[in-house]
Amino acid sequence: MANLSLKFCERDGRKRVLGEIGLKPQIIAAAVAKLRFVLFEPRSSKNFCLPKTRLCAHYLLHAYRQWRSDNTKGIKMSFLERRAGMVIFICPRPIMLVSVGSRENGNIFPMNILGNLGNGYLGFALRGERLAAGLVERAGRIALSSLPLSEGALAYQLANNHTKKSIDWSQLPFATMTSTTFNIPVPEFAQRVRELEIESVRAIGSHKFFIARIIREDKFIDGLEFCSIHGFYQAWRLRKLKGGGEELEISLAGDAFNKRGRHRSEAFRDVPIKMIPLNDKLNR
Ligand SMILES: Cc1cc2nc3c(=O)[nH]c(=O)nc-3n(C[C@H](O)[C@H](O)[C@H](O)COP(=O)(O)O)c2cc1C
Repeated sequence: MANLSLKFCERDGRKRVLGEIGLKPQIIAAAVAKLRFVLFEPRSSKNFCLPKTRLCAHYLLHAYRQWRSDNTKGIKMSFLERRAGMVIFICPRPIMLVSVGSRENGNIFPMNILGNLGNGYLGFALRGERLAAGLVERAGRIALSSLPLSEGALAYQLANNHTKKSIDWSQLPFATMTSTTFNIPVPEFAQRVRELEIESVRAIGSHKFFIARIIREDKFIDGLEFCSIHGFYQAWRLRKLKGGGEELEISLAGDAFNKRGRHRSEAFRDVPIKMIPLNDKLNR
């Protein structure tokens, strides 16, 4: 396993490599039902989305901003880990809503540190010191709902629920139904709901890493799911497109629209935001 690497390539065209992370096995994360899950850490990271000079300029800017005001909230990452994180987001990462508990005592919050582990298992990570991680660990089961593109703003609006023990479901700006097996409340707009049973939990640095078995998957509607990508990859995409300038404006406007619920003062954080549907152009 000494020379393993993860390559991120174009799907079509010349299938160029856009990024590559060299991998180093770190620990056996868990042995579950005769399966062994191995966790890797980066040993190298290359990003080919931007020319080298622009990439270096961005890294310098990042480092300067970091030095001016530390916005990492206590999460320590090396320069290599940061760069590997940027490469990981070349592949669109779904942002999903996690529901836990019941209507009387439960919560719903966004999550994007997650991925399929194969063999019917899914891995995800939640910050150890936020209440959400403890809730999930104690409940031992969750429902994971996909977000349609048009509901992306909700992910940011619900982010503060990571710090809450439970929520008032009647205050949510959308209707809910219950998941098929565990009867956990989930949004009615979900295109896909997966119900998961937690099989292993392990503290890794600032986060708790969960391995969960997919008990059931319900698909209700087809359509694009809300995902996020890194800005370097977005720059690469836009360079390929004719009229990239207009596309950039649209994507920046869409991003600002979705995140408008995020940076609000404490006093207004829990005031529900009126959802305005995105117009067709922004909704792509
Ligand atoms: C789109 C989105 C995805 C998130 N995904 C995760 C996640 O996978 N794991 C996690 O621990 N926190 C996740 N969070 C929570 C934030 O990292 C943060 O802890 C939370 O919003 C609480 O805000 P605060 O850290 O500013 O207090 C996510 C937040 C957003 C907006």
